Amino acid sequence: MTEQGTPLGVGIVGVGGIALSHMAALRTMTSATLVAVCDVAADHAAEVAHLERCAGYGSVEELLDDDEVEAVIVCTPNMTHEQLGLQVLAAGKHLLMEKPLALTGAGARSLAAEATARGLALAVGHTHRFTDQSLAIRRVIDRGDIGVPRFVRIVINGGWIWPGWQSWVLNPELSGGHSLHNGVHLVDLATWWIGEPATSVFSVGQHATSEALDIYDYLVMELGFDGGAAAVCEISRGERPRSAGYLELTVVGTEGVVSRTWDAEGVLAWTDTGLTAWGVDGAGDRAFVRELEAFVAAIRGDGEVVPPLSAAIHAVDIAVASEESLRESRTIRIGASA
Ligand SMILES: NC(=O)c1ccc[n+]([C@@H]2O[C@H](COP(=O)([O-])OP(=O)(O)OC[C@H]3O[C@@H](n4cnc5c(N)ncnc54)[C@H](O)[C@@H]3O)[C@@H](O)[C@H]2O)c1
Repeated sequence: MTEQGTPLGVGIVGVGGIALSHMAALRTMTSATLVAVCDVAADHAAEVAHLERCAGYGSVEELLDDDEVEAVIVCTPNMTHEQLGLQVLAAGKHLLMEKPLALTGAGARSLAAEATARGLALAVGHTHRFTDQSLAIRRVIDRGDIGVPRFVRIVINGGWIWPGWQSWVLNPELSGGHSLHNGVHLVDLATWWIGEPATSVFSVGQHATSEALDIYDYLVMELGFDGGAAAVCEISRGERPRSAGYLELTVVGTEGVVSRTWDAEGVLAWTDTGLTAWGVDGAGDRAFVRELEAFVAAIRGDGEVVPPLSAAIHAVDIAVASEESLRESRTIRIGASA
């Protein structure tokens, strides 16, 4: 039972790449503490447990049997999310699921239904919502400075930098394809900033690194909204040189523009009354802390999960429709995809 005032006992399932960011965040927090880890690579789990001074297990069942574990962060490959998430919730533990929530809309909805039925918090790791730059842009929109958002452009392009991309990510059956693997981050930001769900998606992709790839390492998703707004989300892991990194976040409103570009000092807003600048950076470390703090607050009854579960499900729906658009070269209505 979670008790107010004592640190929340957190278990991590899957101690690969992204688990490192969650463990680093937990080390800085007083409201939550890492009590256990597990991984199918049991030796690796034991090694991490030794370093983190927590329990280490070779199976999720053992971790879920540990009474110290009140909440679980699932950091395993995308195709495992639905089944592992249902197991975690069935064991009565709160769940922070790494993105995407699931590989299908039906899977995402069954996780949401299970969490609701059991009265457990279910959050999804849409970490980009918690960066300084994303929050600053949202604040400018909320203040009404740029009027009503009508166009969003998000570009997150990089080179071939992640070892994880050599394995399960490259298999669309396991990762869901690039729309589900990375695209969900961008479409979540776009719908959050526009302020309404997207109703259509048209996507184009390229196998930029190699024609042998089964996923599109370069991908552009165009979103339509019933209110007349539009968004273009461009994501790449195929740039040259491999170390390339380019980012642009722009929201055009009826009264002005707010933008963050890679080489800028911070976020800039232009309106008829002038130019305003904020010194922010894109550092991910605070984002993971904020994400976990929001999760703990939701468990304690001090707030709602961020993003709302409906937004995490919507991101899956858009991404699934985007993959359909890539296969069929046509615009797909969201919610009407197979
Ligand atoms: N929020 C973000 O910004 C962000 C960034 C990167 C990855 N992710 C997400 O995090 C998840 C993990 O990605 P990663 O890059 O860390 O992957 P990874 O391959 O580096 O690590 C996955 C780990 O899970 C373990 N594992 C696999 N199946 C398991 C199971 N059934 N039970 C226990 N352990 C299991 C593997 O042995 C491995 O150690 C993915 O869903 C990915 O989409 C999120």
